Amino acid sequence: MPANTRITAAFPQDFVWGAATSSYQIEGGATPDLRAESVWDAFCRKPGAVNDGHTGAIACDHYGRMAEDVRLMSDLGLEAYRFSVSWPRVLRDGVGTVNTVGLDFYDRLVDALIARGIVPWVTLFHWDYPHALFLRGGWLNRDSAEWFAEYSTRIVERLSDRVKHWITINEPQVFIQLGHADGTHAPGLRLPLREQLIAAHNSLRAHGRSVQAIRAAAKSPVQVGWAPVGHISYPIDDQPANIDAARAATFAIKKQDLWNNAWFADPVCLGAYPQDGLRLYGSQVPKHPAADMDLIHQPIDFYGVNIYSGGAVKAGPDGPTPVPHPPGHARNTFNWAVAPQSLRWGPRFICERYRLPVVITENGMSNLDSPNLDGDVIDPQRIDYTRRYLLALHRAIAEGADVRGYFHWSLLDNFEWAEGYKERFGLVHVDFTSLARTPKSSARWYKSVIESNGESLSGRFGAPSGVPELDDLLASGPPDRYREPSAPTITPSKSS
Ligand code: GCO
Repeated sequence: MPANTRITAAFPQDFVWGAATSSYQIEGGATPDLRAESVWDAFCRKPGAVNDGHTGAIACDHYGRMAEDVRLMSDLGLEAYRFSVSWPRVLRDGVGTVNTVGLDFYDRLVDALIARGIVPWVTLFHWDYPHALFLRGGWLNRDSAEWFAEYSTRIVERLSDRVKHWITINEPQVFIQLGHADGTHAPGLRLPLREQLIAAHNSLRAHGRSVQAIRAAAKSPVQVGWAPVGHISYPIDDQPANIDAARAATFAIKKQDLWNNAWFADPVCLGAYPQDGLRLYGSQVPKHPAADMDLIHQPIDFYGVNIYSGGAVKAGPDGPTPVPHPPGHARNTFNWAVAPQSLRWGPRFICERYRLPVVITENGMSNLDSPNLDGDVIDPQRIDYTRRYLLALHRAIAEGADVRGYFHWSLLDNFEWAEGYKERFGLVHVDFTSLARTPKSSARWYKSVIESNGESLSGRFGAPSGVPELDDLLASGPPDRYREPSAPTITPSKSS
């Protein structure tokens, strides 16, 4: 690279910069006149189920403060906002009559976003399953696919004149594994593997029916995707054998549980359950009508993926071999390892295998943020985390991965499921007593990233913009394990 070349981390011209939330985690507005119960309301009442007995009854009161929150998004310079619709807010029984007040809320939210130039991305299901449908068997009931299609239709009929981006289900791995196997998330079931597999299968059928319903009801051209979690293995270095090992590990099914990518993504994107899973789960895999796979395998427009962490692997005599993080490796307060390389290799492996554009629908870091004496919330770890991950993502794009956007998790500190309000993922701090919002330093930092389309990532936070110091930083600085990613290639900036 010639001396004095300005190193930039500009992202593709039309790259989408956003932030994400979900209904149960932020809305509140949970009184019986406003919405019916979801499985999370019931789960929160179970003694010991949620940290300190926290519930989402009030959460961030986004329901009552929506206008303020959209203003915050606008101040932050967000180009797009990913939110989810609460199914029991719109259909009290999960099916049937629409609760107009509930649907009106999302209508107003969409209008407010558009008025500020923020593109809405709607997730239809982010875990707050209607309790009424759970009592009818929930995901174990084959009809659940039809229920979800009916609900999808109602939402799309109302919002698709303005909403173009749709996500069916969020992280089926998590709501099936934690909710139906481990019992640590709603609805708190501990089912045998066979029934877990039935619930998973029906959730995938529901995804397929929802894709059909969205396309059938859409009033204007739509982009439809989903948002599974990404369990990413990345190579210890760039040796081809290690890259192959990481790719194999990323899609392998090694344990008799549902913590994997391919059991969910292969049917959705390739139209078949993976062979290694079929072998491993064996006789526990229920027999399905052949037509189910056609339903699950609907064409989608993008592969949304939520990536927070990952692990290194290398090739070994017995196949891909995990390489543990060194002692003292950086972690979030959830104890998830900081692993930026997962955002370089994850999107690339997904693009290669599934031949779909990728959107990072979630990525972020939990921390113990609190206001200082001056009332400021200073969160350098989140800035550093996000900067490393975004540079890794930039690298993925430079290496050919088709990545269309990035949604930071999360806009606001919120109800972090079984952890209650303990884990804070927000760019904006929420005081859960006063409900006051305070943008953290990461919010200001992220704004500069958006404004510069990623170019500011190469300058030290707070330094004059465009200082070409990334090379210095990578050359002189931190120990090897933190030297990731290496310098991004030069690409034209959005403004040039
Ligand atoms: C998820 C969850 C989010 C979590 C976040 C941090 O999709 O996993 O959608 O609701 O809050 O991932 O755990």
